[in-house]
Amino acid sequence: MSPVWEFEKRAPSNIAFIKYWGKKNGKQRPINSSLSMTLKNAETKMKLQAFKDQRFAFDFLFEGERKPDFQKRIEIYFEKIASLYPILREFSYRIESSNSFPHSAGIASSASSYAALAKCLSSFLKELKVKELPHESYLARLGSGSACRSCFSPFSIWEEEDFEQAKSFPRGQMPPLGDTIVLIDKKRKKVSSSMGHSFMDSHHYKEARIKRANLHLKKMKESFQRGDFKSLGELMEKEALELHALMMTSEDPFILFSSQTLEIIHWVKKMREKLNFPFYFTLDAGPNIHLISLKRDQKKLQSILLTDFPSLEIILDEQGDEV
Ligand code: PMV
Repeated sequence: MSPVWEFEKRAPSNIAFIKYWGKKNGKQRPINSSLSMTLKNAETKMKLQAFKDQRFAFDFLFEGERKPDFQKRIEIYFEKIASLYPILREFSYRIESSNSFPHSAGIASSASSYAALAKCLSSFLKELKVKELPHESYLARLGSGSACRSCFSPFSIWEEEDFEQAKSFPRGQMPPLGDTIVLIDKKRKKVSSSMGHSFMDSHHYKEARIKRANLHLKKMKESFQRGDFKSLGELMEKEALELHALMMTSEDPFILFSSQTLEIIHWVKKMREKLNFPFYFTLDAGPNIHLISLKRDQKKLQSILLTDFPSLEIILDEQGDEV
């Protein structure tokens, strides 16, 4: 059977500077605003083929292989979207996805995957003449919260005034930024993000966290406006440590960083004193580290890092292009 429609879309990943951690009433809306940098090289390519069919069925291939756990998540996602747009039930689907980066490398593959899939679905719904379609960021959000930010580049904000979708964030006077990703552990996370978000429901620091995130966001917006990389960096480090502190202080405490993560964090702090250029760390929900520097300093940083840690695996990325 040949497909009646076929779409191929790409979407980048992103790294949050202000972290989204915790959902409102278990819904796909965050308890606090977040702000992120969209990456340039780390992206997902997604092909969606739709077949006229009586069954609402899926065939999902990730880098040429069937992955039952991904397949399950795709099915849940399609169910959600089809409850909004029932016309989608008149087709079956074949979805092929691949990443430009290694899986579980500390690069949010769910963000790029759902953003790419949302772009495919948005194009498909347009072809089906569905009226009043929301922005693809809205559809991406229903897959994974952080994915809604991947629909804008180079910076994106998912803010309280409209938690339905993200929007583009103006970079003000901020010079171009680089992201040197340090791979510490490529194993799957012990605690999934959805589990982590749910621990915030009854977290005793929940209200304090919301206040802190709002304060950090306000200050970070000013850093961008002024082009003040130092204050941006200090805020992103606070956010990264606060995210992990929340994990460690939840009712069911868990630790996602490793001793090597701490070693690099200490190294960053020590080297920043010594070197004449600034760079800062941020972490996702895992042990890998993103070293954020000015783009023009990235090569220097890479060389100093590899001199001190010759066996480190790193990936060079940077802020995405303006779209
Ligand atoms: O989008 P999710 O549900 O995978 O959650 C992402 C959570 C963090 O990556 C830790 C923070 C963020 O804002 O991206």
